[in-house]
Parts: sequence; structure tokens; C-alpha cells
Amino acid sequence: MEGTFDIVVNSPGRINIIGEHTDYNNGFVLPTAIDKKIRFKFRKNGSPSHCEVQSLDFDKGFTFDLKKTAKSAIQWENYILGVVYEIQQLATGLQGFDCVLESDIPIGSGVSSSAALECGLAFGLNELFTLKLTKLQLVELSQRAEHNYVGTKCGIMDQYASVMSKEGHVILLDCQSLEATYVPMEIAPYKLVLLNTNVSHNLASGAYNIRRQQCEEGVAVIQHKYTEVQSLRDVSMEMLSEFKVALSAVVYDRCLYVVQENERTLNAVEALKNNDLKALGAFMYQTHTGLQQLYEVSCKELDFLVDFSRKYDEVLGARVMGGGFGGCTINLIHKDAIDGFIKEVSEGYLKAFGIKLTSFEAMPCGGTRIEN
Ligand code: GLA
Repeated sequence: MEGTFDIVVNSPGRINIIGEHTDYNNGFVLPTAIDKKIRFKFRKNGSPSHCEVQSLDFDKGFTFDLKKTAKSAIQWENYILGVVYEIQQLATGLQGFDCVLESDIPIGSGVSSSAALECGLAFGLNELFTLKLTKLQLVELSQRAEHNYVGTKCGIMDQYASVMSKEGHVILLDCQSLEATYVPMEIAPYKLVLLNTNVSHNLASGAYNIRRQQCEEGVAVIQHKYTEVQSLRDVSMEMLSEFKVALSAVVYDRCLYVVQENERTLNAVEALKNNDLKALGAFMYQTHTGLQQLYEVSCKELDFLVDFSRKYDEVLGARVMGGGFGGCTINLIHKDAIDGFIKEVSEGYLKAFGIKLTSFEAMPCGGTRIEN
């Protein structure tokens, strides 16, 4: 697509320090945007409803009409169509546009290229056509696009982090009230390093929705006795233990993980505020064990990387990040140990799986914005 564009938008991926699979259970998460992003160029094309979107990474594009936004058989088009559809439910004023995008976010690696795509498009169209949607509306409509068009019944963490993050901070987000507390991410001389397994087991999206259903199943049983319970957020360990027999072993384990993870996330925030990085790291390792054994969303490649980390005193914590079944581990590691550790873990990983590991440092960055 040649010519000049009206605006450029940068929309970041995200990391999550702790609080995994808690968002859709109305619990707590601790994410932030990172310096990996999708860069969108937008312009009005003068047509009332003809739109053209092109992705430079895959050298693919498509055209559509604003009045015909039915789901596509091609999944990446659904991210676009979904957002356009959801915007039209809330605002009038959208007209024909051209959009070119380019990404440096690794896809399928748990750093949420999907939310970056949805939120960047929503943000850009809101600016381009002065639709006057609030940032929270952009977040929520992007989540709905993922539910209704892409088919993953995700929580709100990824979209919220992509749009609302502030440089140098993580967000303690209460996914029930959407109250956000920005906590400075001061961890020097430690850093956050992501190790990408470069595997993405394709059961991920189906298995994700099943986890969500299992949590809801648990809540439905607990509600028989505790009618005030709306979600696992409202369930304490004491309450849950009463249902050990009534719940199937699998559903009990899923619920146990979520109840523990909510508590762990709040404890981890205190550790971060007190600069007790050893404690923070220990919580991250505990989360991995929970995701591996109780929630069962890890895989052998991720477990290998976390087990490898455990051998290094300089790595205070490591765990699978995001939905699971592949993607990245997040590691809290001393800056002086990073190069040596990456070299050794990469060699070990290549030997074990014949796959090249990739890695990058993640810095807490600001959310979706106009490029000046
Ligand atoms: C995916 C979803 C999020 C969240 C994480 C797991 O990234 O999009 O909403 O549930 O998995 O914590």
C-alpha cells in the first residue's frame, strides 16, 4: 500500500509477572506492556465503507466492507473483523480506511500478539474517526472481539495491559472491580528475561476454554451451599476444602490452583513493594508448579526450561507465562548471569528437543499510543 498515512499507532505485547488464569475468575493479575509491538499506519480512504488491511509480516492482506463483517474462515482476518464489528455496536462514524501493520511480537508465544492487534486497531480507528470511545471501552470491545470472532473466551488481562500500561510499572489489576494499582517495577540488579520455547501446541485455544468451563463448574457446585459466591474470587481455601468430595478431582485441582494463585499474587505484590525479590521469585516457581500439576497447562518444553533455571542461584524465579501449552517462560535473573545462563540453557534445550531457543529481555513499557 503506497502513499501517505494520517496516523501511526504502536500497540505493545505484554508480560505477566504473576497471576495466571486468574483474570477470567475475577481475580488478580500483575501484567505490563513491553517493548515489542505492532506498528499500524492508518488513513481514511474516502470511501463510505470499503476497507483494506495489509500485514507486512505475512505479506498478506484483505479487503472488506463495513456493512459485511461476518466471520471469516481465515483466523487472522477475524481479529480485524471482530474489532470493526464491536466498534460499530458502540459508535457511529466509522468509514472506509486503509491500514498497514508490521509486528515484532513473536506470535503464539504467550506475549499476546492477539491483544496488541485488537487493541491497536481499535485505538487507531477511534483516533482516526474521532469516535470518542474511552480507553476502557477499547479494552472491553477488543476482548469481546476475541470471544465472539476468534473464539477464545479470554479474560481481560491482555487487552488491559496492552492499552493501560505505564512505563516502569506493573499493574495490579483487580479483574472483578477493574481497579488498577500501578506498582513500580524496581528490581535492579535483576532483570526479566523471556525464553521462548518456539513451540505452540495447537490444543491451546480449546484447552483454554475448557479450563474456564471447569472453573465455572466448580463455582456452580460451591454456590449450592454458598449462594453469595459469584466466582472463584469469592472462594477461600477453607470453603474449597469442604467440596473435595463433591467436586471431581480435576475440577477440584483447577479451583485449588486458582484460589492459591489469587493469594500468591497479592503476596507477590507485597514482596515486590518490599524489594524482597527472593520471595517474589519463589512465588513465581510455585505458580509454575501449580500450572504444571494442578491446572495442567504446561508442556515438556516449558518444564525443561523451568527445571533448568532451578539449578541457578542467580535465577530467583521462573514459570510459564500466559495461556500455556508452549510459548515463553519468564525468568527473574541477576543481570550478570544472563549471558552465561542463556548460552547454557539454549545448548541444553537444543540437545533435548532439537529446537532453537530464542530469548529477550522485557522492560515494562507504556500502553498503546500514537507515534509522534
Ligand atoms: C491468555 C488470555 C488471558 C489470560 C492468560 C492466562 O493470555 O488471553 O486473558 O487468561 O491467558 O493468565
